[in-house]
Amino acid sequence: MATGLVRRAISRVPAVSPAARAIIFRAHASEAEAQQAEPKAKPISSPKTFQIYRWNPDSAQKPQLEDYEIDLKECGPMVLDALIKIKNEIDPTLTFRRSCREGICGSCAMNIDGRNGLACLTKISSGGPTMITPLPHMYVIKDLVVDMTNFYNQYKSIDPWLKRKNPPETPGKEVLQSKEDRKKLDGMYECILCACCSTSCPSYWWNPESYLGPAALLHANRWIMDSRDEYTKERLDAINDEFKLYRCHTILNCAKACPKGLNPGKQIQNIKKLELNS
Ligand code: SF4
Ligand code: SF4
Ligand code: FES
Repeated sequence: MATGLVRRAISRVPAVSPAARAIIFRAHASEAEAQQAEPKAKPISSPKTFQIYRWNPDSAQKPQLEDYEIDLKECGPMVLDALIKIKNEIDPTLTFRRSCREGICGSCAMNIDGRNGLACLTKISSGGPTMITPLPHMYVIKDLVVDMTNFYNQYKSIDPWLKRKNPPETPGKEVLQSKEDRKKLDGMYECILCACCSTSCPSYWWNPESYLGPAALLHANRWIMDSRDEYTKERLDAINDEFKLYRCHTILNCAKACPKGLNPGKQIQNIKKLELNS
């Protein structure tokens, strides 16, 4: 409409030079810009406040919770939808990890209203404000992004790959596994390494360097139980340690926190049982 008016105004000016036309156009354009600069506040029909942990290592300001209000009528149903909306429309400096948006990559793990979970799988609750903070007891890099180096190093330490002493029966072919043996890996192979379990485990909070934590131990058991792996004894020996393994006191916070419905505590119990007989 405004563009139409501008065009009409220009066509009514007879024999105007290109320079003059540019001036007229600029005048109309700045009117339009002025109108844009004072947008009318849109009424929020379904307001919801998010209190989000903010910390910037480049600023002298201490960590703080910042309030953001959005309209749930104009937002998807998940906490990640709200975070993306806030970042895109209110505050582009808000920093968080996300990728797949469907509970596969594990990168959007955070603490939502006191519970660890994936932002993309957690529905926005109705009612009062929702508080979002980084995974507990982790070093914060910025806002909701935590340093996962120690967690990944612990995962790496359990050699998370198939280890063989003998070549496959048929050279150049896969090492086969029966359906029954494959079933033994259920409840472990689904792990997406989001760290929700480890960062909800009190033993891990107090010994993050020396205790491997539920996620790494679940993966240790995944390879111990794999019928194709030929390093079972070595794997058991490597973690048969007062700190690496036996800091688990079967509190089972880990099972409550896992967004994939896994039970790392149960897998740790299995390792302890195998250690007794090894
Ligand atoms: S069961 Fe073990 S790993 Fe799981 S929360 Fe408890 S102490 Fe941590
Ligand atoms: S066991 Fe569950 S909570 Fe722990 S890292 Fe794997 S998927 Fe995440
Ligand atoms: S974005 Fe990938 S698990 Fe949430």
